[in-house]
Amino acid sequence: MKRAGAARRDALVRLCPAASLVVDVGADHGHVAHALGAVATERRPHRSGRGDVPWVVADGLAPFRHVPVAVIAGMGAHTIAGILTRGPRPDVLVAHAQDDPPWLRRWLAANGWRIDAEALAPEAGRFAEVVRAVPGASDADGLTLAYGPRLLEGDDPHLRAHLLHTWRYTRRLHDATNGRDPARHATLGDHAAFLADHLARRGWLP
Ligand SMILES: C[S@@+](CC[C@H](N)C(=O)[O-])C[C@H]1O[C@@H](n2cnc3c(N)ncnc32)[C@H](O)[C@@H]1O
Repeated sequence: MKRAGAARRDALVRLCPAASLVVDVGADHGHVAHALGAVATERRPHRSGRGDVPWVVADGLAPFRHVPVAVIAGMGAHTIAGILTRGPRPDVLVAHAQDDPPWLRRWLAANGWRIDAEALAPEAGRFAEVVRAVPGASDADGLTLAYGPRLLEGDDPHLRAHLLHTWRYTRRLHDATNGRDPARHATLGDHAAFLADHLARRGWLP
């Protein structure tokens, strides 16, 4: 199991507010939990979990009655959504979906969450997208929601590299689907145009 890299760990810590209780769900070795002073959870007892954080063996947040802050990081977007659906609902969520951040953002917006802060962290040749959300109506939709409303309006130091990387990747997929999958090709074209427009408005389009 890969543990959070230092840059991602820093981003999680930065976005995590001080609280009477922080629960790090799926804490793995417990390094993020240690940095946050959080309670670490895992589905099964973890032999290599560090000994200087408190551990709870649990599926998601199930044993907790009230969770002021939950960190759910380094998992798939559907896994994160499942944990939140089973509840209880935390007052603040700090999440990182390693596979599909746009899907997670759309799911959060459709399920009564508003994204209130975001951060990028270089990891494995791309950028991990860390999202903080609170209960409330989403103030973003469409591709702005998908690509991160707080990222797109903010000044994250990695935003330029992240958008360029995502735009180039999307263009490659757009080219690869030409003549093979018309619906996906059209969707990818919309995404590439959205990203190009945002890069151009910032003066970042090469
Ligand atoms: C890839 S590791 C990520 C570890 C760390 N959170 C990070 O950000 O690097 C995912 C961890 O989540 C745990 N996990 C997955 N689903 C879980 C659940 N429903 N409840 C508790 N832990 C879970 C797995 O056992 C695994 O250790």
